[in-house]
Amino acid sequence: MSRTIRLAVVPGDGIGQEVVAEGLKVLEAALPADVKLETTEYDLGARRYHRTGETLPDSVLAELKGFDAILLGAIGDPSVPSGVLERGLLLKLRFAFDHHINLRPGRLFPGVSSPLAGQPEIDFVVVREGTEGPYVGNGGSLRTGTPHEVATEVSLNTAYGIERVVRDAYRRAQARPRKKLTLVHKNNVLVHAGHLWSRIFAEVGAEFPEVATDYLHVDAATIFFVTQPERFDVIVTDNLFGDILTDLAAAVTGGIGLAASGNINPSGEFPSMFEPVHGSAPDIAGQGKADPTATVLSVAMLLEHLGYAAEAARVEAAVAADLAERTGTRSTSQVGDALAGRVSG
Ligand code: NAI
Ligand code: MG
Repeated sequence: MSRTIRLAVVPGDGIGQEVVAEGLKVLEAALPADVKLETTEYDLGARRYHRTGETLPDSVLAELKGFDAILLGAIGDPSVPSGVLERGLLLKLRFAFDHHINLRPGRLFPGVSSPLAGQPEIDFVVVREGTEGPYVGNGGSLRTGTPHEVATEVSLNTAYGIERVVRDAYRRAQARPRKKLTLVHKNNVLVHAGHLWSRIFAEVGAEFPEVATDYLHVDAATIFFVTQPERFDVIVTDNLFGDILTDLAAAVTGGIGLAASGNINPSGEFPSMFEPVHGSAPDIAGQGKADPTATVLSVAMLLEHLGYAAEAARVEAAVAADLAERTGTRSTSQVGDALAGRVSG
């Protein structure tokens, strides 16, 4: 039986265009001959915003809903006021498609140099909550622009939202060799949200007796990400802490050019979205300098999510082999070609 993957592609802005082209090359190379890849490209991001004033029209959102998955490059440009595209496009997609599992692996591949002394073994995955916390847009400002301005940004935490991400993290920890799960929060100060997270973490943990658990305040976690990153296996945390921690994770595992992510809706009710952690990098856009590896690793996550585990493993192995042998500078498309070659070869 021939199968088809219907993929929506949103290259976006800046280097998003460049890295997504390479990600697609590798995806094509990885798929078995009887699987057909059907891509539909959507023009979203800064250019569309300047042309039409639109960020994510409802008609596009409705169309996107029908795909098996979404591959996104990067969104954002200095010419667009901060927050317009982030809230109006990226966050709108994550919320509308209930991407409550934001998965961000942190792995130091052999041959990649970390700024950390001693090249520690780093292989963890951050399970960041994706639909709650301070990112829900529950806030406002009063007396704006006056000396008496007031601004609020309320962090929203529901038992339902915490439980589903915590359970997902336990399942992932259970499936990994080390079976260790660390909750990261700040429950000594953010007592209302923090105690809810801690209580649910303990309750759900009773269902996973094989998983060893740990708790760290987020500030202490930043210390251990640098001094003892090998202590982490799976980490579960709230939306904001996860955002910040995963940039640090990228920095200690070889840089933002290698950091992949998935915005996952595990039920399959809506398409999941895979994207490099980095942004549109206006400083190097259009010069063929961007490393497409983060996008290629995001493609591996996409394959895994759609049930192509062997193909995902082949893509990861190709990246590992390429990283182990990297010398000199190569252009974006040279890296993509090399990875596609290894995957199909
Ligand atoms: P950025 O990730 O675009 O760039 C930070 C630095 O990393 C730059 O020096 C850039 O050249 C370098 N870099 C990033 N990706 C690289 C790659 N693949 N290969 C080699 N070098 C790479 O972050 P920045 O500068 O803070 O943001 C630029 C724009 O991107 C902003 O508009 C921001 O809002 C947006 N952004 C979008 C994201 C998304 O679409 N998910 C995530 C982060 C930022
Ligand atoms: Mg971020």
